[in-house]
Amino acid sequence: MGFKVAVVGATGNVGREMLNILAEREFPADEVVAIASRKSQGVEVTFGDKTLKVKALEHYDFSATDICLMSAGSSVSKEWSPKIAAQGAVVIDNSSCWRYDADVPLIVPEVNADAVASFRKRGIIANPNCSTAQLVVALKPLHDKARIKRVVVATYQSVSGAGKEAMEELFDQTKAVYTLGEIETKTFPKRIAFNLIPHIDVFMEDGYTKEEWKMVAETKKILDPKIKLTATCVRVPVFIGHSEAVNVEFEEPITVDEAHEILRTAPGCLVVDKHEPGGYVTPLECVGEDATYISRVREDTTVENGLTFWCVSDNLRKGAALNAVQIAECLINRKLISAKQKAA
Ligand SMILES: NC(=O)c1ccc[n+]([C@@H]2O[C@H](COP(=O)([O-])OP(=O)(O)OC[C@H]3O[C@@H](n4cnc5c(N)ncnc54)[C@H](OP(=O)(O)O)[C@@H]3O)[C@@H](O)[C@H]2O)c1
Repeated sequence: MGFKVAVVGATGNVGREMLNILAEREFPADEVVAIASRKSQGVEVTFGDKTLKVKALEHYDFSATDICLMSAGSSVSKEWSPKIAAQGAVVIDNSSCWRYDADVPLIVPEVNADAVASFRKRGIIANPNCSTAQLVVALKPLHDKARIKRVVVATYQSVSGAGKEAMEELFDQTKAVYTLGEIETKTFPKRIAFNLIPHIDVFMEDGYTKEEWKMVAETKKILDPKIKLTATCVRVPVFIGHSEAVNVEFEEPITVDEAHEILRTAPGCLVVDKHEPGGYVTPLECVGEDATYISRVREDTTVENGLTFWCVSDNLRKGAALNAVQIAECLINRKLISAKQKAA
Protein backbone atom coordinates (compact mmCIF):
# COMPACT_ATOMS: atom_id res chain seq x y z
CA MET A 1 0.00 0.00 0.00
CA GLY A 2 1.29 3.48 -0.90
CA PHE A 3 1.37 6.83 0.85
CA LYS A 4 -1.28 9.49 1.26
CA VAL A 5 0.12 12.84 0.16
CA ALA A 6 -1.45 16.29 0.63
CA VAL A 7 -0.31 19.28 -1.43
CA VAL A 8 -1.16 22.54 0.36
CA GLY A 9 -1.03 25.52 -2.02
CA ALA A 10 -2.07 23.28 -4.92
CA THR A 11 -3.44 26.18 -6.97
CA GLY A 12 -0.16 28.12 -6.82
CA ASN A 13 2.91 28.09 -9.04
CA VAL A 14 4.84 25.69 -6.83
CA GLY A 15 1.85 23.54 -5.81
CA ARG A 16 0.85 22.87 -9.42
CA GLU A 17 4.41 21.92 -10.24
CA MET A 18 4.44 19.58 -7.21
CA LEU A 19 1.42 17.77 -8.61
CA ASN A 20 3.12 17.49 -12.03
CA ILE A 21 6.32 16.15 -10.49
CA LEU A 22 4.54 13.62 -8.24
CA ALA A 23 2.81 12.26 -11.36
CA GLU A 24 5.91 12.36 -13.60
CA ARG A 25 8.09 10.53 -11.09
CA GLU A 26 5.33 8.00 -10.29
CA PHE A 27 5.59 8.83 -6.62
CA PRO A 28 4.40 5.84 -4.57
CA ALA A 29 1.14 7.48 -3.46
CA ASP A 30 -2.22 5.75 -3.16
CA GLU A 31 -3.91 9.10 -2.82
CA VAL A 32 -2.93 12.69 -3.57
CA VAL A 33 -5.10 15.49 -2.18
CA ALA A 34 -5.02 19.08 -3.47
CA ILE A 35 -5.55 21.77 -0.82
CA ALA A 36 -5.63 25.57 -0.96
CA SER A 37 -7.52 28.47 0.63
CA ARG A 38 -11.28 28.52 1.06
CA LYS A 39 -11.71 30.65 -2.06
CA SER A 40 -10.33 27.80 -4.21
CA GLN A 41 -12.54 25.06 -2.75
CA GLY A 42 -13.89 22.98 -5.66
CA VAL A 43 -11.46 24.42 -8.23
CA GLU A 44 -10.00 21.69 -10.44
CA VAL A 45 -6.25 21.08 -10.75
CA THR A 46 -4.42 18.53 -12.89
CA PHE A 47 -2.59 15.55 -11.44
CA GLY A 48 -1.15 13.43 -14.26
CA ASP A 49 -4.15 12.32 -16.34
CA LYS A 50 -6.51 12.94 -13.42
CA THR A 51 -8.32 16.03 -12.21
CA LEU A 52 -8.43 16.78 -8.49
CA LYS A 53 -10.99 19.02 -6.79
CA VAL A 54 -9.29 21.40 -4.38
CA LYS A 55 -10.21 21.14 -0.68
CA ALA A 56 -10.04 23.97 1.85
CA LEU A 57 -7.17 23.85 4.33
CA GLU A 58 -9.19 24.99 7.32
CA HIS A 59 -11.58 22.00 7.15
CA TYR A 60 -9.08 19.32 6.25
CA ASP A 61 -8.26 16.45 8.62
CA PHE A 62 -4.63 15.35 8.16
CA SER A 63 -4.79 12.36 10.52
CA ALA A 64 -4.61 9.84 7.64
CA THR A 65 -2.00 11.86 5.69
CA ASP A 66 1.60 10.62 5.58
CA ILE A 67 3.33 13.50 3.77
CA CYS A 68 2.21 17.11 3.44
CA LEU A 69 3.97 19.17 0.76
CA MET A 70 3.37 22.71 1.94
CA SER A 71 3.66 25.71 -0.36
CA ALA A 72 1.23 28.35 0.80
CA GLY A 73 3.57 31.03 2.16
CA SER A 74 5.17 31.73 5.54
CA SER A 75 2.18 32.92 7.53
CA VAL A 76 0.09 29.89 6.54
CA SER A 77 3.01 27.59 7.31
CA LYS A 78 3.67 29.20 10.68
CA GLU A 79 0.11 28.51 11.78
CA TRP A 80 -0.55 25.20 10.01
CA SER A 81 2.70 23.21 9.75
CA PRO A 82 2.86 22.42 13.52
CA LYS A 83 -0.85 21.51 13.55
CA ILE A 84 -0.42 19.20 10.55
CA ALA A 85 2.73 17.64 12.04
CA ALA A 86 0.84 17.09 15.32
CA GLN A 87 -1.66 15.01 13.33
CA GLY A 88 1.22 12.73 12.31
CA ALA A 89 2.01 13.90 8.78
CA VAL A 90 5.59 14.87 7.89
CA VAL A 91 5.49 18.45 6.59
CA ILE A 92 7.92 19.43 3.81
CA ASP A 93 7.65 23.20 3.73
CA ASN A 94 8.60 25.56 0.93
CA SER A 95 8.28 28.83 2.81
CA SER A 96 11.09 30.54 4.72
CA CYS A 97 9.21 30.13 8.03
CA TRP A 98 11.10 27.09 9.43
CA ARG A 99 14.38 27.13 7.48
CA TYR A 100 16.52 28.66 10.21
CA ASP A 101 15.02 26.71 13.13
CA ALA A 102 17.75 24.53 14.67
CA ASP A 103 15.24 21.69 15.09
CA VAL A 104 14.20 21.70 11.43
CA PRO A 105 16.49 20.15 8.80
CA LEU A 106 16.99 22.28 5.68
CA ILE A 107 17.59 19.84 2.86
CA VAL A 108 18.86 19.69 -0.69
CA PRO A 109 19.11 15.93 -1.27
CA GLU A 110 22.16 16.14 -3.56
CA VAL A 111 24.02 18.03 -0.83
CA ASN A 112 22.96 17.04 2.72
CA ALA A 113 20.48 14.14 2.48
CA ASP A 114 21.82 12.62 5.72
CA ALA A 115 20.54 15.59 7.73
CA VAL A 116 16.94 14.62 6.89
CA ALA A 117 16.96 11.99 9.67
CA SER A 118 16.60 14.74 12.31
CA PHE A 119 13.08 15.68 11.12
CA ARG A 120 11.27 14.02 14.03
CA LYS A 121 11.81 16.84 16.55
CA ARG A 122 9.19 19.02 14.90
CA GLY A 123 7.91 16.76 12.10
CA ILE A 124 8.85 19.54 9.67
CA ILE A 125 11.52 19.60 6.95
CA ALA A 126 12.35 22.86 5.18
CA ASN A 127 13.04 23.41 1.52
CA PRO A 128 15.53 26.19 0.76
CA ASN A 129 14.98 29.39 -1.15
CA CYS A 130 14.98 28.83 -4.92
CA SER A 131 18.22 30.74 -5.53
CA THR A 132 20.04 28.79 -2.80
CA ALA A 133 18.94 25.34 -4.03
CA GLN A 134 20.59 25.56 -7.45
CA LEU A 135 23.65 27.32 -6.02
CA VAL A 136 24.46 24.61 -3.47
CA VAL A 137 23.90 21.83 -6.02
CA ALA A 138 26.68 23.42 -8.11
CA LEU A 139 28.93 24.33 -5.17
CA LYS A 140 28.87 21.01 -3.27
CA PRO A 141 31.05 18.93 -5.66
CA LEU A 142 33.52 21.81 -6.04
CA HIS A 143 33.66 22.24 -2.25
CA ASP A 144 34.39 18.51 -1.82
CA LYS A 145 37.34 18.86 -4.20
CA ALA A 146 38.98 22.17 -3.22
CA ARG A 147 37.19 23.62 -0.09
CA ILE A 148 35.37 26.84 -0.79
CA LYS A 149 36.51 29.92 1.14
CA ARG A 150 34.31 32.64 -0.31
CA VAL A 151 31.49 33.03 -2.84
CA VAL A 152 30.28 36.20 -4.57
CA VAL A 153 26.98 35.70 -6.37
CA ALA A 154 24.69 37.94 -8.42
CA THR A 155 21.26 36.49 -9.19
CA TYR A 156 18.90 37.13 -12.09
CA GLN A 157 15.63 35.81 -10.67
CA SER A 158 12.46 35.22 -12.66
CA VAL A 159 9.11 36.67 -11.64
CA SER A 160 7.58 33.21 -10.96
CA GLY A 161 9.71 33.19 -7.80
CA ALA A 162 7.28 35.80 -6.44
CA GLY A 163 4.12 33.75 -7.14
CA LYS A 164 1.40 33.59 -9.75
CA GLU A 165 0.29 37.22 -9.31
CA ALA A 166 3.82 38.39 -10.11
CA MET A 167 3.75 36.45 -13.39
CA GLU A 168 0.45 38.12 -14.27
CA GLU A 169 2.01 41.51 -13.48
CA LEU A 170 4.87 40.99 -15.93
CA PHE A 171 2.41 39.79 -18.58
CA ASP A 172 -0.01 42.70 -18.04
CA GLN A 173 2.74 45.33 -17.96
CA THR A 174 4.35 43.96 -21.13
CA LYS A 175 0.97 44.03 -22.89
CA ALA A 176 0.33 47.58 -21.61
CA VAL A 177 3.67 48.80 -23.01
CA TYR A 178 2.72 47.61 -26.50
CA THR A 179 -0.90 48.81 -26.36
CA LEU A 180 -0.01 52.15 -24.68
CA GLY A 181 -2.20 51.10 -21.74
CA GLU A 182 -1.79 52.01 -18.09
CA ILE A 183 1.14 50.25 -16.39
CA GLU A 184 0.14 49.11 -12.93
CA THR A 185 2.67 48.01 -10.29
CA LYS A 186 1.25 45.80 -7.54
CA THR A 187 3.61 42.99 -6.54
CA PHE A 188 6.89 44.68 -7.44
CA PRO A 189 8.10 48.07 -6.13
CA LYS A 190 8.89 49.34 -9.66
CA ARG A 191 7.88 48.39 -13.18
CA ILE A 192 9.35 44.97 -14.08
CA ALA A 193 8.51 44.84 -17.80
CA PHE A 194 11.60 45.82 -19.86
CA ASN A 195 13.38 46.59 -16.59
CA LEU A 196 15.07 44.85 -13.68
CA ILE A 197 14.85 45.43 -9.95
CA PRO A 198 17.80 45.02 -7.54
CA HIS A 199 15.53 44.30 -4.59
CA ILE A 200 13.86 41.01 -3.55
CA ASP A 201 12.07 40.60 -0.21
CA VAL A 202 12.42 43.23 2.55
CA PHE A 203 15.45 45.39 3.41
CA MET A 204 17.48 44.45 6.48
CA GLU A 205 19.22 46.92 8.82
CA ASP A 206 22.63 46.45 7.13
CA GLY A 207 21.27 47.37 3.68
CA TYR A 208 21.16 43.82 2.34
CA THR A 209 17.77 42.40 1.39
CA LYS A 210 16.26 39.37 3.14
CA GLU A 211 16.66 37.38 -0.10
CA GLU A 212 20.40 38.08 -0.01
CA TRP A 213 20.59 37.20 3.68
CA LYS A 214 18.73 33.92 2.99
CA MET A 215 21.40 32.85 0.48
CA VAL A 216 24.10 33.41 3.11
CA ALA A 217 22.30 31.68 6.00
CA GLU A 218 21.00 28.77 3.93
CA THR A 219 24.33 28.01 2.20
CA LYS A 220 25.96 27.87 5.63
CA LYS A 221 23.25 25.59 7.07
CA ILE A 222 23.11 23.22 4.07
CA LEU A 223 26.71 23.12 2.87
CA ASP A 224 29.25 24.47 5.38
CA PRO A 225 29.04 27.20 8.06
CA LYS A 226 32.65 28.21 7.25
CA ILE A 227 31.82 29.38 3.72
CA LYS A 228 31.71 33.19 3.38
CA LEU A 229 29.14 34.40 0.88
CA THR A 230 27.88 37.73 -0.37
CA ALA A 231 24.94 38.09 -2.74
CA THR A 232 23.16 40.69 -4.85
CA CYS A 233 19.67 39.45 -5.75
CA VAL A 234 17.97 40.96 -8.77
CA ARG A 235 14.48 40.38 -10.22
CA VAL A 236 14.48 40.22 -14.02
CA PRO A 237 11.63 40.18 -16.58
CA VAL A 238 11.85 36.43 -17.21
CA PHE A 239 8.80 34.27 -16.43
CA ILE A 240 10.53 31.06 -15.23
CA GLY A 241 14.18 30.16 -14.55
CA HIS A 242 16.68 31.71 -12.19
CA SER A 243 20.23 32.51 -13.35
CA GLU A 244 23.29 33.21 -11.24
CA ALA A 245 26.76 34.60 -11.95
CA VAL A 246 28.94 32.90 -9.35
CA ASN A 247 32.52 33.71 -8.32
CA VAL A 248 34.22 31.22 -6.00
CA GLU A 249 37.51 31.37 -4.11
CA PHE A 250 38.92 28.01 -2.96
CA GLU A 251 41.48 26.88 -0.36
CA GLU A 252 43.10 24.45 -2.83
CA PRO A 253 43.94 24.84 -6.51
CA ILE A 254 41.29 23.74 -9.01
CA THR A 255 41.43 24.13 -12.80
CA VAL A 256 38.62 24.76 -15.24
CA ASP A 257 39.10 21.26 -16.69
CA GLU A 258 38.90 19.69 -13.24
CA ALA A 259 35.75 21.67 -12.44
CA HIS A 260 34.17 20.55 -15.73
CA GLU A 261 35.00 16.93 -15.00
CA ILE A 262 33.66 17.08 -11.42
CA LEU A 263 30.47 18.91 -12.39
CA ARG A 264 29.79 16.57 -15.33
CA THR A 265 29.30 13.61 -12.95
CA ALA A 266 27.88 15.51 -9.96
CA PRO A 267 24.27 14.67 -8.99
CA GLY A 268 21.77 17.23 -10.30
CA CYS A 269 24.34 19.10 -12.46
CA LEU A 270 24.57 19.33 -16.25
CA VAL A 271 27.46 21.14 -17.92
CA VAL A 272 26.86 22.97 -21.20
CA ASP A 273 29.99 25.00 -21.87
CA LYS A 274 31.11 25.58 -25.44
CA HIS A 275 33.04 28.72 -26.27
CA GLU A 276 30.77 29.70 -29.14
CA PRO A 277 27.54 31.66 -29.62
CA GLY A 278 24.75 29.73 -27.88
CA GLY A 279 27.16 27.32 -26.20
CA TYR A 280 25.63 28.02 -22.76
CA VAL A 281 22.21 27.64 -21.13
CA THR A 282 19.71 30.48 -20.73
CA PRO A 283 16.64 30.46 -18.45
CA LEU A 284 14.27 29.80 -21.35
CA GLU A 285 15.95 26.44 -21.96
CA CYS A 286 15.81 25.22 -18.38
CA VAL A 287 12.02 25.50 -18.02
CA GLY A 288 10.46 22.13 -17.21
CA GLU A 289 13.89 20.59 -16.62
CA ASP A 290 15.27 19.12 -13.41
CA ALA A 291 18.97 19.92 -13.76
CA THR A 292 21.09 22.76 -12.50
CA TYR A 293 22.89 23.84 -15.68
CA ILE A 294 26.43 25.13 -15.48
CA SER A 295 28.05 27.15 -18.25
CA ARG A 296 30.87 29.63 -18.79
CA VAL A 297 33.32 28.13 -16.27
CA ARG A 298 36.44 30.33 -16.22
CA GLU A 299 39.51 30.79 -14.09
CA ASP A 300 39.47 33.93 -11.95
CA THR A 301 43.07 35.07 -12.05
CA THR A 302 42.48 37.97 -9.63
CA VAL A 303 42.67 35.56 -6.66
CA GLU A 304 44.92 32.58 -5.88
CA ASN A 305 42.42 29.75 -6.49
CA GLY A 306 39.38 31.22 -8.20
CA LEU A 307 36.65 30.13 -10.60
CA THR A 308 33.71 31.97 -12.09
CA PHE A 309 30.66 30.31 -13.66
CA TRP A 310 27.07 30.78 -14.85
CA CYS A 311 24.32 28.65 -13.37
CA VAL A 312 20.68 28.30 -14.48
CA SER A 313 17.76 26.23 -13.16
CA ASP A 314 13.95 26.06 -13.19
CA ASN A 315 13.09 27.81 -9.92
CA LEU A 316 9.68 26.16 -9.68
CA ARG A 317 11.25 22.71 -9.99
CA LYS A 318 14.74 22.39 -8.39
CA GLY A 319 14.14 25.68 -6.57
CA ALA A 320 10.93 24.41 -5.00
CA ALA A 321 8.64 21.56 -6.10
CA LEU A 322 11.21 19.04 -7.34
CA ASN A 323 13.40 19.49 -4.28
CA ALA A 324 10.38 18.95 -1.99
CA VAL A 325 9.40 15.74 -3.81
CA GLN A 326 13.03 14.54 -3.71
CA ILE A 327 13.01 15.07 0.07
CA ALA A 328 9.84 12.96 0.33
CA GLU A 329 11.51 10.24 -1.79
CA CYS A 330 14.53 10.42 0.48
CA LEU A 331 12.34 9.76 3.56
CA ILE A 332 10.81 6.72 1.85
CA ASN A 333 14.05 5.33 0.39
CA ARG A 334 15.78 5.61 3.76
CA LYS A 335 12.75 3.95 5.42
CA LEU A 336 12.34 6.93 7.74
CA ILE A 337 8.56 6.86 7.29
CA SER A 338 5.99 4.21 6.49
CA ALA A 339 2.44 4.57 5.22
CA LYS A 340 -0.09 5.01 8.04
CA GLN A 341 -2.71 2.81 6.36
CA LYS A 342 -0.13 0.03 6.01
CA ALA A 343 0.99 0.49 9.60
CA ALA A 344 -2.60 0.36 10.91
N1 LIG B 1 8.03 30.31 -6.68
C1 LIG B 1 9.23 29.90 -6.31
O1 LIG B 1 10.21 29.87 -7.09
C2 LIG B 1 9.45 29.44 -4.92
C3 LIG B 1 10.63 28.83 -4.61
C4 LIG B 1 10.87 28.40 -3.31
C5 LIG B 1 9.89 28.61 -2.39
N2 LIG B 1 8.73 29.22 -2.71
C6 LIG B 1 7.73 29.40 -1.65
O2 LIG B 1 6.61 28.55 -1.90
C7 LIG B 1 5.43 29.17 -1.42
C8 LIG B 1 4.39 29.26 -2.53
O3 LIG B 1 4.91 30.01 -3.62
P1 LIG B 1 4.12 30.13 -5.00
O4 LIG B 1 5.09 30.77 -5.91
O5 LIG B 1 3.49 28.83 -5.40
O6 LIG B 1 2.93 31.16 -4.60
P2 LIG B 1 1.55 31.39 -5.33
O7 LIG B 1 1.61 31.03 -6.77
O8 LIG B 1 1.12 32.77 -4.96
O9 LIG B 1 0.53 30.34 -4.62
C9 LIG B 1 0.21 30.40 -3.26
C10 LIG B 1 -0.60 29.18 -2.88
O10 LIG B 1 -0.88 29.23 -1.48
C11 LIG B 1 -2.29 29.08 -1.28
N3 LIG B 1 -2.73 29.80 -0.09
C12 LIG B 1 -2.60 31.12 0.17
N4 LIG B 1 -3.20 31.41 1.36
C13 LIG B 1 -3.71 30.25 1.85
C14 LIG B 1 -4.44 29.89 3.01
N5 LIG B 1 -4.78 30.79 3.94
N6 LIG B 1 -4.80 28.59 3.17
C15 LIG B 1 -4.48 27.68 2.24
N7 LIG B 1 -3.79 27.94 1.11
C16 LIG B 1 -3.41 29.21 0.92
C17 LIG B 1 -2.90 29.67 -2.51
O11 LIG B 1 -4.23 29.21 -2.63
P3 LIG B 1 -5.40 30.12 -3.33
O12 LIG B 1 -5.18 30.00 -4.81
O13 LIG B 1 -6.62 29.47 -2.84
O14 LIG B 1 -5.17 31.53 -2.80
C18 LIG B 1 -1.96 29.09 -3.57
O15 LIG B 1 -2.31 27.75 -3.83
C19 LIG B 1 5.88 30.51 -0.85
O16 LIG B 1 6.12 30.35 0.53
C20 LIG B 1 7.17 30.79 -1.58
O17 LIG B 1 8.01 31.64 -0.86
C21 LIG B 1 8.48 29.63 -3.95
